[in-house]
Amino acid sequence: MKFPILIINFKSYKEAAGPRAVEIAKAAERAAKELGVNIAVAPNHFELALVAQSVEIPVYAQGVDVESAGAYTAHTALENVKEVGASGVILNHSEAPLRLNDLGRFIPKARALGLDVVTCAPDPRTSLAAAALGPSAVAVEPPELIGTGKAVSKYKPETVVETVQLVSKHFPDVAVITGAGIESGEDVEAALRLGTKGVLLASAAVKAKNHYQKIMELAKPLVR
Ligand code: G3P
Repeated sequence: MKFPILIINFKSYKEAAGPRAVEIAKAAERAAKELGVNIAVAPNHFELALVAQSVEIPVYAQGVDVESAGAYTAHTALENVKEVGASGVILNHSEAPLRLNDLGRFIPKARALGLDVVTCAPDPRTSLAAAALGPSAVAVEPPELIGTGKAVSKYKPETVVETVQLVSKHFPDVAVITGAGIESGEDVEAALRLGTKGVLLASAAVKAKNHYQKIMELAKPLVR
């Protein structure tokens, strides 16, 4: 996994359903190439394979709930995430939390499959616990700020700083990124200034009228 990175989570937004998922992913790919920065997209499971076949930037699954492919009706398996061409997975998003025991099995399995693993956590201490399980990155996201337009980097900078300090002290190989309420390039810039290696965001990019323009704005602070 390369840093600094902007990860765009499409969630289950109507604006990113069906062919629109490919359109947003292509806008992200264009911005990544134009700026020379790392941008990954996380489409809904419905569009995961299609998006993975359509763009060259990293494509992540939004989550999984079983490890192996097999007789698991209506479940999403880690092995199939890999099989359909995704290169990473987001785990334990606050909208799709996992049990600790499952997380403890899924992270090493995903790493063994060669997938990037971004594990979400709501606060600094949970981020530290998540980092102990060996993901590529932890994403600290205070749930109360998600989708509000109130950026974590402005409204809860102490949460971000504490997470960076705790995780880098104990697990220096695990990157810290952040998300929740990130709306603008300025918010991304602030997140990087607080010591993170990137941002996980959703609504600002997915709901933008002009996806390419908005993603360019959000990704510009990543330019080195
Ligand atoms: O996964 C990203 C997320 O939960 C933040 O959502 O809409 O506040 O950028 P949003």
